[in-house]
Amino acid sequence: MRQIKIAPSMLSADFSKFGEETVAITKSGADLLHLDVMDGSFVKNISFGPKFIKDARPYSDLMFDAHLMIVNPWNYIERFAEAGADMITVHYEACKDRLKDTLKAIKSLGVKCGAVINPDTEVSAVKDVIEDCDMLLLMSVFPGFGGQKFIPEVLPKIEQAARLIESTGKDIDLEIDGGITAENVAEVKKAGANVIVAGSTVFKEKDRAAIIRKLREI
Ligand code: DX5
Ligand code: ZN
Repeated sequence: MRQIKIAPSMLSADFSKFGEETVAITKSGADLLHLDVMDGSFVKNISFGPKFIKDARPYSDLMFDAHLMIVNPWNYIERFAEAGADMITVHYEACKDRLKDTLKAIKSLGVKCGAVINPDTEVSAVKDVIEDCDMLLLMSVFPGFGGQKFIPEVLPKIEQAARLIESTGKDIDLEIDGGITAENVAEVKKAGANVIVAGSTVFKEKDRAAIIRKLREI
């Protein structure tokens, strides 16, 4: 089994003390920091942009995993790379036939790249770009808000995606995002996900180190 990595979603952090929250999560044993960028257009919520990420950068040495939920992401990837993102993921639904070019553009900036699909998009949508990806991200809620309920119909898609990744023979991470809890994390790992995003599950606990450890070890 591949190494399990826990990626707390900073969307659930207190933005008025984002630096402190970033330090606390880093010290709690997170493997990467998941940063949800929302533009109020691709999704019905607005979060933060590159300046926010740039200001948070000095507070952690962890990998910054920027999940772009924005339209025309190709217009912004350079700014997110400059801000300190180590991995940039873009939605198939936002890129469509520009997905391959966008992934290549991210790589050319010296940053890891990944494709994201919504719960109602088939895994086959990313078949032709999987070899260009360092990570594939499957949404297990419709993007826009933290604290939603996991959609169990995504489980067979995780298995399909894991098979697609295996067929490449490459070491491509499979990330799952939305509604992950201590109750369902074992199922998503069993299905083949190895990068686990968790927002509300981590931030609602006082002892973040304990919940991160629990999510990793279950
Ligand atoms: C949803 C975001 C998620 C979200 C996860 O649009 O992409 O990363 O913050 O939060 P939880 O774990 O609370 O579902
Ligand atoms: Zn996310």
